[in-house]
Amino acid sequence: MQPSKPADEIRRGRFLSQKASRFGESVIRGMTRLCNQHGGINLSQGFPGTDPPPEVLEAAHQALRGGYHQYSITWGSPRLRQAVAEKVKRYNGIAADPETMITITCGATEAMVASLLAVIDPGDEVVVFEPFYENYGPGAIISGGRPRFVPLRAPDFQWKPHELEAAFGPGTRAVILNTPHNPTGKVFSRRELETIAELCRRWDCLAITDEIYEHILYGEREHVSIAVLPGMAERTITIGGLSKTYAITGWRLAYAIAVPELSLGIRKMHDFLTVGAPAPLQEAGVTALRLPPEYYQHLKLDYSRKRGILLDYLERAGFNPLPPEGSYFILCDIGGIAQRWGVKDDAAFAEKLVADFGVAGVPGSSFYSDPGLGRHLIRFHFAAKDEVLHQAGERLLRAGRA
Ligand SMILES: Cc1ncc(COP(=O)(O)O)c(C=O)c1O
Repeated sequence: MQPSKPADEIRRGRFLSQKASRFGESVIRGMTRLCNQHGGINLSQGFPGTDPPPEVLEAAHQALRGGYHQYSITWGSPRLRQAVAEKVKRYNGIAADPETMITITCGATEAMVASLLAVIDPGDEVVVFEPFYENYGPGAIISGGRPRFVPLRAPDFQWKPHELEAAFGPGTRAVILNTPHNPTGKVFSRRELETIAELCRRWDCLAITDEIYEHILYGEREHVSIAVLPGMAERTITIGGLSKTYAITGWRLAYAIAVPELSLGIRKMHDFLTVGAPAPLQEAGVTALRLPPEYYQHLKLDYSRKRGILLDYLERAGFNPLPPEGSYFILCDIGGIAQRWGVKDDAAFAEKLVADFGVAGVPGSSFYSDPGLGRHLIRFHFAAKDEVLHQAGERLLRAGRA
């Protein structure tokens, strides 16, 4: 019999796969834990502080009473897939057959990982704009892809055409898009998406697009899904989700849309990862997707107001906010304050901010492949209740004066 491994070796992670060793824990979820320890106001992990629409809650109660307690069909309840098909036709202009092209997943997080697992082979290159939502890094690693990063530069988060062109090549399998974008709040314009689409066609690769903030737009910004551009329907996986739009991040409901051949692969990955999304909540999701147009008008107005509240405090506090065009995040340049505080980097800044002033944000470095690029940045979300934003704002003003 082999001697058993010493406990400390096991604790050191001897059994961890190379994949699991290649990325750390989520910085965002880590900041939430730190915030809870200090009893602070959490403007780090971006979830709505408001309640879901009452009719959606009522639909969930009804579904629970109505016997939806066992597995639903792996790729999603027929009613929810039908509601998604109607919604994406209406809002995005995407024609999706619910029978063959829509997969309901446990959040956009799972939709992205299942999609990457379905289309990426080890060594395939995946173009990623940076800064990027931190899940895409581990997602690319889990699927064996090799990320090629394209910088979006402050203050307007444009890319340099030669850097975008250079990121694509014969080894490219996919580009990951996110519009409206977390953490910058950039909304990709139709013209920008046309440029990316042209590269996808030229290099015969896919676009995997995370559009979870599609309804949270400011001013005259419009949301464009790359799938509707010429020649893109067959080479796009469109990911959308219910978490943010309906304030139900804990329900874990999202979808991936792609042509049947791609959907088949996504559905297999989804099946063996999760079997399916929560059955009763899927039924309630139908009510959410069928809310009237006024719901989305209010959503926009609410977020515009919240954006204004936090931007005003951040400006007055000297945090140099970069106003977002969409989503509910604000990146701030903290260089000046950090220097005055004498902290060594953005992580130390975020720790001091929550420990001494009771406000949690996300260190900018967590959104970059090269942490050095984000050392002067911090991200706050403004999805909290107005009174919470005012409370946080007062604390930020104190922090700015310290
Ligand atoms: C860009 C982006 N995609 C996906 C998610 C997660 O979505 P879900 O709750 O549907 O997994 C987030 C959450 O912060 C996000 O910012």
